[in-house]
Amino acid sequence: YLIDKGNHRHFMEKEIHEQPEAISHALSHYVDFLGHTVRPVAADIDFAKVPSLAISACGTAYLAGLVGKYWFERYARLPVEIDVASEFRYREIPLNPASAALFISQSGETADTLASLRYCKERGLKIGAVVNTKESTIARESDAVFPILAGPEIGVASTKAFTCQLTVLAALAIGAGRARGTLGEAEEKALVRHLAEMPRIMASVLNTIQPAIEQLSRDLSKCKDVLYLGRGTSYPLAMEGALKLKEISYIHAEGYAAGELKHGPIALIDENMPVIVIAPHDRFFEKTVSNMQEVAARGGRIVFITDEKGAAASKLPTMATIVLPNVDEIIAPMIYSLPIQLLAYHTAVFMGTDVDQPRNLAKSVTVE
Ligand code: AGP
Repeated sequence: YLIDKGNHRHFMEKEIHEQPEAISHALSHYVDFLGHTVRPVAADIDFAKVPSLAISACGTAYLAGLVGKYWFERYARLPVEIDVASEFRYREIPLNPASAALFISQSGETADTLASLRYCKERGLKIGAVVNTKESTIARESDAVFPILAGPEIGVASTKAFTCQLTVLAALAIGAGRARGTLGEAEEKALVRHLAEMPRIMASVLNTIQPAIEQLSRDLSKCKDVLYLGRGTSYPLAMEGALKLKEISYIHAEGYAAGELKHGPIALIDENMPVIVIAPHDRFFEKTVSNMQEVAARGGRIVFITDEKGAAASKLPTMATIVLPNVDEIIAPMIYSLPIQLLAYHTAVFMGTDVDQPRNLAKSVTVE
């Protein structure tokens, strides 16, 4: 990786486009492409034996961890306690010393994440670090290091580190599932085959969705508030989409679980606040569409991020529909990261903000 912008206007744009390559690197470390299996992970953490897993991180890394929780619970039947590091370190969580804890950090230097790590270490838990910087403090203080291999990330808004964190967490969850006997050999093979398809699918999505995203970003750049909705692993993704938009375009955005809409945020719906719905045609699709109907019935404008099946299945009027290829549920969070990153990026470009160095933000937060 060269530390320059190449042909791109900003590091963030370059890093978005580097994702197919970065994911390939990460995958080749964790996956055996010929056997379609996950490679055995560091022996220091025995996922077969741990009664539960604790995960802690900040910002985007925390949202990757939240997707990871869905995977560890579903594929490995491993209960996961997760919180943002600034809460985790003070909550006095009753932790089981026989458990393991994972700390996710691009920089490996985030103060609250490091403090949460030390808190768990003092209580006897085995410590794993999902980091981009192998020489970092968090990596050094861990029993097992799981590198995400994203290469240097310069843009303050995390992009390729997020999708590489997701890739590593997916591989760890599948490995844990095999070790715990909750995933069969055939299921592992099928999941790994899907992971292996990611770089190709990402490259084709990056090649095709730009015009639609740019057009939509022009409209979003005129808005003051945006609501992002999703269910299942699309819920943390909705929060990530909102975080990206806040960070670099300074538009107020919230990410909500679609099912929570009627418990409060529905009061905000009007024609001025676009509602971006992340809805792959998965087992939650019908439910998410019924939430979209609630938005439409109140005059809300919908941005529908879905796949070919989803686009064909819904007849609701939208402000824009971004159509992605149909993909398996395990890789949807990585693939759907692309439109949300590009939407934030192009909206910020239209607004003329400093995309790589947004105001008030630091790439690495080393103070509490
Ligand atoms: C992401 O776009 C942010 N800039 C921020 O939330 C970041 O993910 C967070 O500060 C954690 O940083 P780390 O991964 O280096 O620990």
